[in-house]
Amino acid sequence: MLSLINRLNKIDWNFPNSNTAGGINSIHPYPAKFIQEIPKELIGIIGVPKGTCVFDPFCGSGATLVEAQLAGKPSIGIDLNPIACLISRVKTQPLTSSFMECVKHVINSAQSYTKITIPQIPNLDHWFMPEIQETTAKLLLSIESVKEQRIKDALRLALSSVLVRVSNQESDTRYAAINKDIDANKYYSLFSRAAEHLWKVKNAYKPKFYNTEVLCKDTLAVTKKEIKQPVGLVITSPPYPNAYEYWLYHKYRMFWLGFDPIQVKRNEIGARAHYYKKNPPTANDFHNQMVTLFNLFWDVVVKNGYVCVVIGRSKVHGKIIDNASIINDVGKLVGFTPMLKLSRLIASSRKTFNLSHANIINENILIFRK
Ligand SMILES: C[S@@+](CC[C@H](N)C(=O)[O-])C[C@H]1O[C@@H](n2cnc3c(N)ncnc32)[C@H](O)[C@@H]1O
Repeated sequence: MLSLINRLNKIDWNFPNSNTAGGINSIHPYPAKFIQEIPKELIGIIGVPKGTCVFDPFCGSGATLVEAQLAGKPSIGIDLNPIACLISRVKTQPLTSSFMECVKHVINSAQSYTKITIPQIPNLDHWFMPEIQETTAKLLLSIESVKEQRIKDALRLALSSVLVRVSNQESDTRYAAINKDIDANKYYSLFSRAAEHLWKVKNAYKPKFYNTEVLCKDTLAVTKKEIKQPVGLVITSPPYPNAYEYWLYHKYRMFWLGFDPIQVKRNEIGARAHYYKKNPPTANDFHNQMVTLFNLFWDVVVKNGYVCVVIGRSKVHGKIIDNASIINDVGKLVGFTPMLKLSRLIASSRKTFNLSHANIINENILIFRK
């Protein structure tokens, strides 16, 4: 036991030399994602008992699932956000070599359509030029005709990865409309390059095996029956009060891909939008959400299994909320034994949203044992 804690304490959890540019985690942007060393080291040091899996109930872009696959361990991920689930699925499922052929075919048939129906999406003209709207609708219709689901997923993800670039939105994190001067030809070439990049990193990605399941659900409504394997190790980073808006980051991607961002917003834990309503949520609401989460852990984690939670503090209407201490209390309340609290600095390059409102510069890794 002591040696496990010693080994965890020996790691520099800041990972100052971390560089994931170009790897599997670069196939699509995602805010506040793990640097892959975190799940990698936790899986390597704590281990996953035979017959159990790794579980991330807020899997986002799937960093935990990828590291589980690379370590040859089965895994289950859940996320409310359908774009997160699409990214996680595409990363963790195999892709056949006919993919690049399909990309050419999809572009050719999209270019051949003369008439296209544009879906009803709020404020579409503000964020997308008419030519971009048409090209997006054509590409999506063309992708729809692809038969193999995994190729279809990868094509939809490649399209999603360029949607903000071709829109009028200044960047992924700046919501100003600007003129970008992108026409249909440029769009097809951006899509083709995104697909090529996806294919290249998928080819270089060599998991030990592909035993991963991704559920697109509200984790707080998930029952133990839906977690089909015993869990040996949980590695997760929950969304916390007033920190991010994952739904907003992917709002137009969801609209275009046929999902409902407003529904996602409703169930998204901690979304900033909830904190500017009448009767906003409180730290106690977050405590109760974490009790529901830890009760699920208690039901699915095997005896002597571990739960690792990466969490920072937040600020709600001027008041600092110490989320790590809320989670520590909840873990104990539900019956887990807190083993270790590690601290790490968040690299400023990783603050994909402007977090200055909360001045979040470090986060904790809390480790519990059942
Ligand atoms: C800190 S991020 C996780 C990032 C992830 N570790 C990664 O590497 O990409 C938190 C995630 O929780 C998800 N989320 C928020 N509310 C949720 C809910 N009620 N059920 C499931 N997922 C939720 C968000 O969509 C977001 O992807």
